[in-house]
Amino acid sequence: MSAPASFAEARNRREKARAAGLSPDYWYAVEHDDRVKPGRVVEVKFWHRSIALFRGADGGLRAIENRCAHRQLALSLGTVEGTCLTCPYHGWSYDGGGHLVRVPHELFGHPMPSVRLRSFPVRVRYGLIWIFPGDPALAEHRRIPDIPELEGRSRWACVPIDFHWHAHHSMIIDNVSDFTHAWLHRDFRPFSDARLTNLTSDDDRVRLSYDTRIGRGRLSSLFVDRRRVDTDAIDLAYEYPYQWSSTGGKIKHWCFVLPIDERTSRVFFLFYFESLKIPLTPWRIPRRLMSLVLRLSNRWLIGPLLAQDGFAVEAEQRAWESHSDRPVPDLNPAVAAFHQLTVRKWEAHLATESEGARVGRD
Ligand code: FES
Ligand SMILES: [Fe+2]
Repeated sequence: MSAPASFAEARNRREKARAAGLSPDYWYAVEHDDRVKPGRVVEVKFWHRSIALFRGADGGLRAIENRCAHRQLALSLGTVEGTCLTCPYHGWSYDGGGHLVRVPHELFGHPMPSVRLRSFPVRVRYGLIWIFPGDPALAEHRRIPDIPELEGRSRWACVPIDFHWHAHHSMIIDNVSDFTHAWLHRDFRPFSDARLTNLTSDDDRVRLSYDTRIGRGRLSSLFVDRRRVDTDAIDLAYEYPYQWSSTGGKIKHWCFVLPIDERTSRVFFLFYFESLKIPLTPWRIPRRLMSLVLRLSNRWLIGPLLAQDGFAVEAEQRAWESHSDRPVPDLNPAVAAFHQLTVRKWEAHLATESEGARVGRD
């Protein structure tokens, strides 16, 4: 029995992958847009860092360090007043740029303290709120993934679904792209008899394809229109730090992992379909009913299916914490490629960070 190594102590690629964070210099989905109403504040965590995300009375979203500069209380315990976030203790109030703008008590002859908390760029896209936790100068250059099918007037229906899993983010990436785990889903059969036909890597992504049988479960096969969709193959990618799949260009998903710490992640899935058919008929489900159908599917099909993955990665996390020194005979070469990319990006991030610290010292 052995405890997992920290990244600095890690002796091999797997230990490194399981200890690595995800680079903060990307946009991360942190919450559903409709769950942060005006006047509400929530705590969001990105890799040990706590962020207070709030929506002002004007409808605008803001994200600042979750720490009052006075006595360090979590500002997410406070209240939104107008467009500012106010600490619950002495009432110090911060704007979206993190500036202290109001102290509602006597200053004892002192000037107003000059305080600025860190603030984070925030965007909304695809029904999700995104935060850029890294170097703000890079926020403009990095893109939230473009998903043309989810934009414009004729966009495909999509109802995001999310989970809080007690598992390292790398286990989730392994899980969604490594199709050797058909056994776990032997009742739902989202894929079966997978055979890896392609695996390529570059600096930013791992792409892979399987010949497989998609959506052959009792329920899902009723809705999949096999005359319109080739369901005998699938393309996937670990498009750092995100993951996606495409079945014949007609059934797609993106998976956005929010790394919270070494054993906790939140994961947002967007599944979207060009069309689904009405069971037992050749007709397509009308577009205006698709959101309702997807809502039901999240509840009865996709949700329970992904809950099986959650069960598996959480069990893997517990197992890793007890047996991290045991060799893992991973047979699918894609898994090693995912780990390589995760480790390489994290090492690059750490190098940038230590370079920044060195320049700061000089
Ligand atoms: S601790 Fe926040 S105002 Fe005093
Ligand atoms: Fe799965």
